[in-house]
Amino acid sequence: MNDNAKSVRGYDRLAMVYRGLEICLFGNALLRARLALMDQLPPVGRALVLGDGTGRLLEQLCITQPDCRITSVDQSRQMLNQQRRRVERIGALDRVDLIQADARSYDVPKNHFDLVVAAFFLDCFSEGELAENVPRFLAGLRDDGTFYFVDFVWPSSTWRRRQATAYQWLMHRFFRWQTGLPNRRLVDLDSVLATQNLVLTDSADRLHPMMACRCYRVQR
Ligand SMILES: C[S@@+](CC[C@H](N)C(=O)[O-])C[C@H]1O[C@@H](n2cnc3c(N)ncnc32)[C@H](O)[C@@H]1O
Repeated sequence: MNDNAKSVRGYDRLAMVYRGLEICLFGNALLRARLALMDQLPPVGRALVLGDGTGRLLEQLCITQPDCRITSVDQSRQMLNQQRRRVERIGALDRVDLIQADARSYDVPKNHFDLVVAAFFLDCFSEGELAENVPRFLAGLRDDGTFYFVDFVWPSSTWRRRQATAYQWLMHRFFRWQTGLPNRRLVDLDSVLATQNLVLTDSADRLHPMMACRCYRVQR
């Protein structure tokens, strides 16, 4: 089985237990992080949501952005099925396009979206893949568009970094086993983002020390 097929099958398997797993490890902190700045977003017309998994963020985006047309790309059919159920339940299916695709080969329309969302998604990729693909994802944004970033980051304090190292070791082992995740440790996403001409416009305070939720604009 190639790496991508392993990843797809892994996330298909995890779809039903994903929420239970995250609660065991982090309680409600992941959900809080995903939604932390959702209410601060201006009204947007078109959004691209990458790798939203079971669709909790997508559901909230549909609720807070009632006039937004959303494209949601995920490689996993089972994750997309969960997204469909959530979106259908709140009557928003007619304005959400659910696309099963590998985001690395998904042809992101340039200069098209007001909002691009990546929540706990960029950490699925190696540094090389991020260097190649993050600029493609961001190229989908219109000039005044927002990049909504939520993910694990390395905390600044030494004690928290030790704690993060233990958590990340556990999570990387688990996702490597289940999905063939290539990384052995958390990629330094702050360094990746620092290479992207991004201007930070909003950042959530007092989240979990290992998590960040931020809004950026691209400087062109
Ligand atoms: C770690 S989960 C995160 C799910 C969700 N965004 C969250 O906040 O928990 C990663 C999600 O990205 C999807 N994914 C991983 N690699 C992908 C790829 N190359 N292309 C598209 N989707 C991918 C997985 O199927 C899964 O739904």
